[in-house]
Amino acid sequence: MDSAYHVIQRRKSTRTFDERPLSAEDRHALAVLLEKGGNPFGVPVEFHFLDADKHSLKSPALVGEKYYVAAKVERVPNCEIAFGYEFERFCLEAEAIGLGTVMLAASLNREAFERAIEVSDSEVMPVASPVGYPAAKRSMRERAMRKALGADGRMPFGELFFDGAFDMPLTPESAGDLRQAFEAVRLAPSAGNKQPWRVVLEGECVHFYECRTIGESPLGDIQKVDLGIALVHFDLVASEAGFETSFEQGDPGIQLPDGVEYIATCRVSR
Ligand SMILES: Cc1cc2nc3c(=O)[nH]c(=O)nc-3n(C[C@H](O)[C@H](O)[C@H](O)COP(=O)(O)O)c2cc1C
Repeated sequence: MDSAYHVIQRRKSTRTFDERPLSAEDRHALAVLLEKGGNPFGVPVEFHFLDADKHSLKSPALVGEKYYVAAKVERVPNCEIAFGYEFERFCLEAEAIGLGTVMLAASLNREAFERAIEVSDSEVMPVASPVGYPAAKRSMRERAMRKALGADGRMPFGELFFDGAFDMPLTPESAGDLRQAFEAVRLAPSAGNKQPWRVVLEGECVHFYECRTIGESPLGDIQKVDLGIALVHFDLVASEAGFETSFEQGDPGIQLPDGVEYIATCRVSR
């Protein structure tokens, strides 16, 4: 089986699917993944597997999709972060068995999705994703979208990660055995590829922050979903490198640049 780090390295959003229905084996494997649940924030996230035709689900960004996975969460503190953590774990596990996904916050007929999974007033569905076999070739539309988004670009290590303080860039060398875990954060997908994660390494504590560039909407703060994605990438790869990880929330009081907000700390030990 591939390591989480290799799956993270090869994952790219899939927006062009071949129209083959899922095999019984893959359908079963997906059902098992969707049952899994669990995130460091203890906020339940409810997943649903959906047939696109049956529920009239559409996305102008996609070609050839037949199935979607949508999920909802109660509007409670940390809900977007917990959601991002679980949804991305699902996307990585789908990738590991050869299935493509892409989180969609905007490019979907949201009302039909919310109806299909019965989102109540106290709940939110930040994103849904198609799931299926990637087509051999990306559509023209997908290629144009990737170009417009700069989807293959990522910010340099030293602009995202810091050594004890925000004015001290972290180098891959000084990240030591956590280097791949940091790199896994850098490779994460994010809404509009804005990469809002900032991380400070301080001894055994890895503090995660949000540098918000997209305003809040009635759906909440979509960039907190991005932070949940970053947390699961870090968690999976640090665990693979032999670290024990645990999450806590308590602002360490490090001086922050403008527009940066503390999110959570991952404690790593061996
Ligand atoms: C929370 C979130 C919301 C997203 N919403 C959309 C969307 O509405 N439409 C879309 O085409 N892509 C969406 N994306 C996909 C990103 O554009 C994509 O992950 C990013 O450009 C990086 O490309 P990559 O995933 O191939 O690495 C979303 C991604 C995330 C994490």
